[in-house]
Amino acid sequence: MIVVSRLPLREWDQDMATAWAQRHVASVAHGLQDMAAQRTAAVSRRLDKVLEAFSHERVGSQHFASLTGYGHGDLGREVVDRVFARVLGAEQAAVRLQFVSGSHAIAAALFGVLRPGDRLLSVTGRPYDTLEEVIGLRGSGQGSIAEFGITYEELALTPEGCVDGSALEQALSTPTRMVLIQRSCGYSWRPSLSIDAIGDICARIHQRQPDCVCFVDNCYGELVEEKEPTDVGADLIAGSLIKNLGGTITPTGGYVAGRADLVEQACCRLTAPGIGREGGIGFDLNRVVLQGLFLAPQMVAEALIGADLVAGVFDALGFAVQPAPGGPRGDLIQAVRIGDPEALKVICRAFQSCSPVGSYLDPVPAAMPGYDSELLMAGGTFIDGSTSEFSADAPLRPPFNLFVQGGTHRGHVELALVRALVALVKAGLLKLPQNG
Ligand SMILES: Cc1ncc(COP(=O)(O)O)c(C=O)c1O
Repeated sequence: MIVVSRLPLREWDQDMATAWAQRHVASVAHGLQDMAAQRTAAVSRRLDKVLEAFSHERVGSQHFASLTGYGHGDLGREVVDRVFARVLGAEQAAVRLQFVSGSHAIAAALFGVLRPGDRLLSVTGRPYDTLEEVIGLRGSGQGSIAEFGITYEELALTPEGCVDGSALEQALSTPTRMVLIQRSCGYSWRPSLSIDAIGDICARIHQRQPDCVCFVDNCYGELVEEKEPTDVGADLIAGSLIKNLGGTITPTGGYVAGRADLVEQACCRLTAPGIGREGGIGFDLNRVVLQGLFLAPQMVAEALIGADLVAGVFDALGFAVQPAPGGPRGDLIQAVRIGDPEALKVICRAFQSCSPVGSYLDPVPAAMPGYDSELLMAGGTFIDGSTSEFSADAPLRPPFNLFVQGGTHRGHVELALVRALVALVKAGLLKLPQNG
């Protein structure tokens, strides 16, 4: 790990460390101001798309309430689905608070579409941690897709972290029912996939196997670019509402979107065959879901500006970061190679202490359902587990990467970074420049 000042050191001094950290963060923010302006300017284009969808579907306050019981014919649920489908460039969407998380929505898509004997091929390497048990790569006796007779193969990414084109060509000589494409890096050290890259992969797959379902795990990617995977050839996508599209206020839920027949199949898994998309109420939360979508373009832009800042602050101190500050982004995640478990804890503790909720808590590594490694999480968010609010987490395994995401305003990210730097200096893990 660490650090990075080639200058002689001073003794620990709180005021001096704070003044240095504030100057460092401010100077990085200043250097990134053109990129921040570009990200802010992009908000209107994304918001225009959202408003267009609201207007086209004639959203009114009559849609805010939901039915009770089965929810058959729930006008609010139906308008929410149509609005999301338009924003995502999809034929159909199902936006449901009954989805517990993004992993649940993805699992519903896999189980809904795949049948015994089908082949699932991941072209972006090992899928996100929580999908390992869904696929059957970890755990047994829980009804993974492997236990239902679905075969699974994955293609490693190239050393640059891109989809391996020639391996894909070769893999497509075998009939494949579904290809899984993970847009975001998740907990891996690789660039997120651009929409253009996703479009290219889908085109190649459909050219060789027109009936193969191109399915994209869209978690963390929504509204980061002008288009969504469903605009450029993906047949089905899934994601979480406590990430990008929830605009930091939707309290729970997830979505699937894409071809109408595939969305229906995913919903038959969520509810039951025969009920599909037609059941399930919105618990009178349709207003929040719609308002979250309305806020999402702004929240995503703020999170991206915050991610650039995190990248810039650590990059300037000599840490490896992925992606580079101001570089192309396809998701909200900023990875920083901290390289040391103690420093990870210090940073997460500082971020937690700068959170609006639970600032007094001391994050400690703990097991979490669906994950193999212990996780360290700094997430003092209003929505529990929300990663569109400023948060950081780290699977406690070498090389001890920190994954930072979200943020409703850049000022919050700045404050948290200052605290983290001061805490690192105080812990003797970061050296204060003599002339700083
Ligand atoms: C790429 C990716 N896919 C899926 C998920 C799972 O989402 P959730 O935590 O909502 O289950 C995550 C979570 O971080 C992720 O990064």
